[in-house]
Amino acid sequence: MTKLLYITANPKGLNKSKGLQIGEAFLEAFLEANPNAEIKRLDLFEANIPKMDADLVSARGKVGGYGYKVDELPEIEREKYIAMHTVADEFVAYDYYVFVSPVWNLSSPPVIKQYLDNLFVSGKTFNYTPEGAKGALVGKKALHIQTRGGLYINTPMAELESGDRYLKIALRFLGIDVMDTVVAEGFDYFPKKVNEIVEAAKVNARLAAKQMAAVEN
Ligand SMILES: Cc1cc2nc3c(=O)[nH]c(=O)nc-3n(C[C@H](O)[C@H](O)[C@H](O)COP(=O)(O)O)c2cc1C
Repeated sequence: MTKLLYITANPKGLNKSKGLQIGEAFLEAFLEANPNAEIKRLDLFEANIPKMDADLVSARGKVGGYGYKVDELPEIEREKYIAMHTVADEFVAYDYYVFVSPVWNLSSPPVIKQYLDNLFVSGKTFNYTPEGAKGALVGKKALHIQTRGGLYINTPMAELESGDRYLKIALRFLGIDVMDTVVAEGFDYFPKKVNEIVEAAKVNARLAAKQMAAVEN
């Protein structure tokens, strides 16, 4: 069974978010190509994603660096440590990932980083080897759908954008094959062309869905 985790990071909701609307076009095409796919939606603004706070940093250090057993952690650290693993376990259970997010201040909404911080778990999503760290999620595939108010493609802004870049780096570090991002940009420059930009991005999203769905697991 094909399993897709659809991860969104936009508090505006479907009616107002152009990215989320483009994402729905992706999902429709993905389901059309793969009617039996299991799709789970994860809204990072609604989900309870553990923060990398003092307890969790301490727990990670004790278990990873000092060989503590999870049972030996203080209760609050243990709870947060287990919650982090639960998030990572859920992620690992899927074959395909779609992230939908806007550019905010040259990067992603911070919930994306908060989520990714739960996924970097050595021994689970990557391993330390004599040749360095190696991603464990080989054979899985991901796509980022990103909306932007400004213009980045083929402009000097391209090198300043770090949301899409970091997300792709992080996913590739975990061993995931990352497709070319579906970008919809320039909304703030061309307010009269918003629909046109969204429709063009939906075409690309549908193509990406067909490409992704073509790789059967
Ligand atoms: C807090 C915030 C920061 C933003 N920063 C940027 C930015 O740095 N670059 C940019 O191109 N657009 C920026 N924008 C515009 C959004 O990227 C744009 O409105 C969004 O991608 C539109 O897609 P949506 O309808 O799915 O939210 C920002 C918007 C907000 C709310």
